[in-house]
Amino acid sequence: MGQSLRHMERVVGVGIGPLAAGTVGLLILLKVIQRLRRRPNIQDKVVVITGASSGLGKECARVFHAAGARLILCGRDQRRLQEVVEELGNKTYGKTQTYTPCTVTFDLSNTSVVCSAAEEILKCHGHVDVLINNAGVSYRGNILDTHVSVQREVMDTNYFGPVALTQAILPSMVDRGSGHIVVISSVQGKISIPYRSAYAASKHAMQAYYDCLRAEVDSLGLHVSVLSPGYVRTNMSINAVTGDGSKYGVMDKTTATGADPVDVANDILKAVCQKKKDVVMAGLGPTTAIYLRTLWPALYFRVMASRARKQTGKEE
Ligand SMILES: NC(=O)c1ccc[n+]([C@@H]2O[C@H](COP(=O)([O-])OP(=O)(O)OC[C@H]3O[C@@H](n4cnc5c(N)ncnc54)[C@H](OP(=O)(O)O)[C@@H]3O)[C@@H](O)[C@H]2O)c1
Repeated sequence: MGQSLRHMERVVGVGIGPLAAGTVGLLILLKVIQRLRRRPNIQDKVVVITGASSGLGKECARVFHAAGARLILCGRDQRRLQEVVEELGNKTYGKTQTYTPCTVTFDLSNTSVVCSAAEEILKCHGHVDVLINNAGVSYRGNILDTHVSVQREVMDTNYFGPVALTQAILPSMVDRGSGHIVVISSVQGKISIPYRSAYAASKHAMQAYYDCLRAEVDSLGLHVSVLSPGYVRTNMSINAVTGDGSKYGVMDKTTATGADPVDVANDILKAVCQKKKDVVMAGLGPTTAIYLRTLWPALYFRVMASRARKQTGKEE
């Protein structure tokens, strides 16, 4: 063994010991560089999160706060937002400098109040680095039994609200030549499934608007990310509206068995730090369906029609 090592040392011209140590050192250095490059850098950034009082927005608040962001949390209920602020205030995260979040309360579906809310948001730190349009409402119902006012209500919250907020914040980002607008869309922003018309339509509209925005602000140094999760374990289905405008109030099986919101929030942080343009955050089934809708629409339509026949619009 000793002889063969000495033979190898003669062949390579240096001692195997220093060579091995050098290789290990290089590997460790590469690993450290890789880690540093992957490490989310949101420290000190001003991040606005709408719908931060519950579900995915609340988890995003936790994750971005822990990463050192200066948060502005938005929702309709000041008391629930304050509870989130207090919960975050009681935590420490090693050496990361964290900040007490600000809150701004407004109803996104009322576009006439969004401009003054945006002014309030901009007053908190003088600018916004990242705007996360997360707030949203879902819908369950049969189109035949759904009043147009419900279609409009969902569109107001999921589409016109975020659009109005984006357009109110956008000029300040353009002035600074930097800013990142993020939207939490859905797999249903890519494909429509039966009995979700209002929701799927609002998320498709969102996808189209923010795809246009991405192209238009690219040369101005601004970024746009459309992030589309599959089912996430939140109260989304409970809070959904039905065809007559009443609350659905049911925890659907698909939602109850959906992804852990903590994991999705971490994926959102990563996607924001890496300035990803468009990410589907879902498993193989929904991802295949998205491809099928483009590559083999006839089959997709048949599958959806069969799915609609098996459902009544009320349950999963
Ligand atoms: N859960 C899922 O399966 C899933 C899947 C894909 C995408 N998403 C998307 O993820 C986002 C967050 O949903 P979630 O799952 O966390 O649902 P959630 O628990 O019901 O949270 C919805 C949030 O939106 C806020 N909101 C609703 N209507 C509002 C309005 N008119 N004005 C201002 N804020 C309003 C709510 O705040 P207040 O009620 O306190 O005002 C709440 O914080 C939504 O955009 C949703 O479409 C969810």
